[in-house]
Amino acid sequence: MSEAAESEVLDIPQVYTHHVFCCFTQRPPQHPRGSCGANGAAPLWDRLAKKLEASGRRDIAMTSAGCLSFCQAGPIMVVYPQGIWYTPKSPEDIDEIVTSHLLGGKPVERLIIVPRI
Ligand code: FES
Repeated sequence: MSEAAESEVLDIPQVYTHHVFCCFTQRPPQHPRGSCGANGAAPLWDRLAKKLEASGRRDIAMTSAGCLSFCQAGPIMVVYPQGIWYTPKSPEDIDEIVTSHLLGGKPVERLIIVPRI
């Protein structure tokens, strides 16, 4: 890497303390791969978006993502830069992820999944 290219990389600021990517893929209910949408993701992501907006924390971002490749375990979300994968199943799970991890800095161990790659 050239010196100029390297400095360009280093000059990119870290904008977010947490950047959450949520899978919004919706496949038909009988699809063999399943999907986060079919597993009830939409109301959970809606709750997450509202909670983050209400927090007023502009250093936490949420981005809608396509399939993150672990469809059967969905709904799937991943938090960067830590690279922590979650599979929340209820509104209470979302609340705990927001309060404990995204606002409090403490990951919610019981909801973490470790993808087998
Ligand atoms: S459909 Fe969500 S991870 Fe594949």
